[in-house]
Amino acid sequence: MKFSVKIPAFVAIVSASVLLGMPAANADAADTSISAGGDVTKGKRLFNRCKACHNLTATARRRIGPNLDSLFGREAGSREGFKYSQAMKEADFVWTEQNLDEWLAQPRTFLPGNKMAFAGLRNDQDRKDLMAYLREATVEAPE
Ligand code: HEC
Repeated sequence: MKFSVKIPAFVAIVSASVLLGMPAANADAADTSISAGGDVTKGKRLFNRCKACHNLTATARRRIGPNLDSLFGREAGSREGFKYSQAMKEADFVWTEQNLDEWLAQPRTFLPGNKMAFAGLRNDQDRKDLMAYLREATVEAPE
């Protein structure tokens, strides 16, 4: 008798979280298949192209673009206090390596109407290297 009560409750919790899309979203943000093929040292050098506009830590001063700390798994356009374009504000997705890869390759095509003045990083290997660096550098080191 006990089991007949426990099983439906478990099934209900699982199907509720599937409906909310939670496992899928977390799994996507945890997917490191692009950064896995990248070189962190080269990526750090490539980040020089982003540096004028982006800092990587939560406490750093904001530049032209939003700070990129805790980027993976974060809702696009969600940095409190930053004046995003309408397009970025309305964007409804979480940053994963897959969509960051598309964004960095061709920002204007990926999200028309955004205000990031960056032409794009067309070389696939460059984006893998940059991704590998961002994976490390956007995670806050514990103090
Ligand atoms: C000339 C300044 C500039 C450069 C260079 C630039 N960005 Fe941006 N970036 C911005 C601005 C401004 C936004 C906000 C766009 C909007 O609101 O439409 C942005 C947004 C972003 C976002 C979305 C952040 C969020 O909160 O959702 C990411 C990720 C990003 N940039 C990564 C990069 C990377 C990586 C590079 C280097 C390859 C780069 N950017 C180069 C200005 C820049």
